[in-house]
Amino acid sequence: MSKWKVLVTRKLPEKCMKMLYDNFEVVLNEEDRALSRDELIEKAQGCDAVLTQLVDKIDEDFLSKVKGIKIVANYAVGFDNIDLKAATKHHVMIANTPGVLTNATAETAWALLFAAARHIASGDKYFKEGKYKVWSPTLFLGQGVTGKTLGVIGAGRIGGAFIRMSKGFNMRILYTNIERDKKLEDEMGAIYTDKNTILKEADFISIHVPLTQETRHMIGKDEFALMKKTAVLVNTSRGPVIDEKALVYALKNGLIFAAGLDVYEHEPKAEPELYTLDNVVTMPHVGSGTIESRTDMGTLAASNITDAYEGKVPRTLVNKDVINK
Ligand code: GLV
Ligand code: GLV
Repeated sequence: MSKWKVLVTRKLPEKCMKMLYDNFEVVLNEEDRALSRDELIEKAQGCDAVLTQLVDKIDEDFLSKVKGIKIVANYAVGFDNIDLKAATKHHVMIANTPGVLTNATAETAWALLFAAARHIASGDKYFKEGKYKVWSPTLFLGQGVTGKTLGVIGAGRIGGAFIRMSKGFNMRILYTNIERDKKLEDEMGAIYTDKNTILKEADFISIHVPLTQETRHMIGKDEFALMKKTAVLVNTSRGPVIDEKALVYALKNGLIFAAGLDVYEHEPKAEPELYTLDNVVTMPHVGSGTIESRTDMGTLAASNITDAYEGKVPRTLVNKDVINK
């Protein structure tokens, strides 16, 4: 069997690139930027597989213009950049990278939670600007975490790991999810409830849902109105889950205490106020950004392509209905 031609839309950690070069004829975007839509379509011509980033849109237009693709392996656990129905219709397998980034992303959520609760970013800026002159009893007072109520919206792999990491903080845990997780309840004493109860009762709210029609703007004006004025909101999932204009209003008008964000509604841009407000901590979508995790994601994405090449069901296939279609 001749080697497959694989388009890799961004350079991955070395170990992953080696694995790809060892097994395939690689077409690599060498530049440190995303491919434009036209470049993506052009470079994918004649390829058997594409290793995509979450900024690469794989939709009906792409799939109808690029023939012969057997698998798209997304270098992300989220796959809202891909039209699954269209992929299945065109007999293209879609794979993602679940599991290998779970802890890294849950850790990012905790980092943002603490940073927002305790003004870590503002304090860092203040110190480095030489403003710290004398110890003060009232400087940068934040919200304590231990013993408070943690509200988790979406308790799959990442939300579940996030909850488990709270062990040392002795928190009352409320969660909502498409299905109950008895194991999580038994292990952590987590209480399954509805979104509104979480919004009303939680001191810290962290979102871990995929972006879908149902979750788009699931946190907006009405939801902020329910939250505690002392609440801290964390989002490491997808930006459009929060109505960003409503978030800015809530932060400016003290409807909530602070927010920690890794994702934005119109990435890479955000509402102008998010660049200036003190009570929001921002990160540039690096939830899974540990050296270990980014390497494991590449290995998993490459393994999915290898599986497909060998005629096996890719290990983390998303659109399972494509098989036997
Ligand atoms: C990153 O956001 C991912 O979905 O893996
Ligand atoms: C992500 O894939 C999750 O299940 O949390």
